[in-house]
Amino acid sequence: MIIAIDGPAGSGKSTIARMLAKHLGFNYLDTGAMYRALTWKAMQKGVALENENALCQLMDQTTLELRCKDASLNVFIDGINVTKEIRLPSITNNVHYISNTHGIRQRMVKLQQRFAVEGNVVAEGRDMGTVVFPQAEKKFFLDAEIEERAQRRYADFKPSTSEISFDAVIKDIEIRDRRDTTRNNSPLVKSSDAIYINTTKLTIEQVFNKILKEIESSVKK
Ligand code: DC
Repeated sequence: MIIAIDGPAGSGKSTIARMLAKHLGFNYLDTGAMYRALTWKAMQKGVALENENALCQLMDQTTLELRCKDASLNVFIDGINVTKEIRLPSITNNVHYISNTHGIRQRMVKLQQRFAVEGNVVAEGRDMGTVVFPQAEKKFFLDAEIEERAQRRYADFKPSTSEISFDAVIKDIEIRDRRDTTRNNSPLVKSSDAIYINTTKLTIEQVFNKILKEIESSVKK
């Protein structure tokens, strides 16, 4: 079974996908982590992020692995654990080059589809329901108002970087939304058969229960 979860930054999809995978005993596929890991390698190697040929060549010489245990995920690139590094602001600010490169997306989609052959999966990203797993048994599109999404990000940041302002977080999310929805390659869009959930006024538990109910009801049918 494949459960596809898409949505913009801060919509809660990573938390929900992880919880679902753990609860159901499914593998967890964090596709954003894959784009982030390749960005990390490209920056380490000094590859120009606008150079499609160089990026594709780099990816062809790369081994990317997601190892899940109890739905906690470790990301390895060429055997190096980059789980922490790929969350750094320098990666978040540059990952859009990689995720808007046609040849890279083609390769990533193949890898992601191969991951799902290994068993049941909860897959999260921007194009899970539309491009990577159009055949997914269940598709969800999580969304929330921008202020709420920024609030969630701000709460994540606050313990470590107290100097970051709420306004800066909103601006950052606006930029990411614009990049995700207007890019040429697989822009973020709700698949017509995905269930839309606005999480603005919902707790994580409420979203989780709503999704679980949908999954359980379709399994019973
Ligand atoms: O979900 P995230 O913030 O970790 O995603 C990192 C970046 O990768 C973000 O710019 C969107 C992009 N992305 C994508 O284009 N397609 C996906 N399936 C997943 C992420």
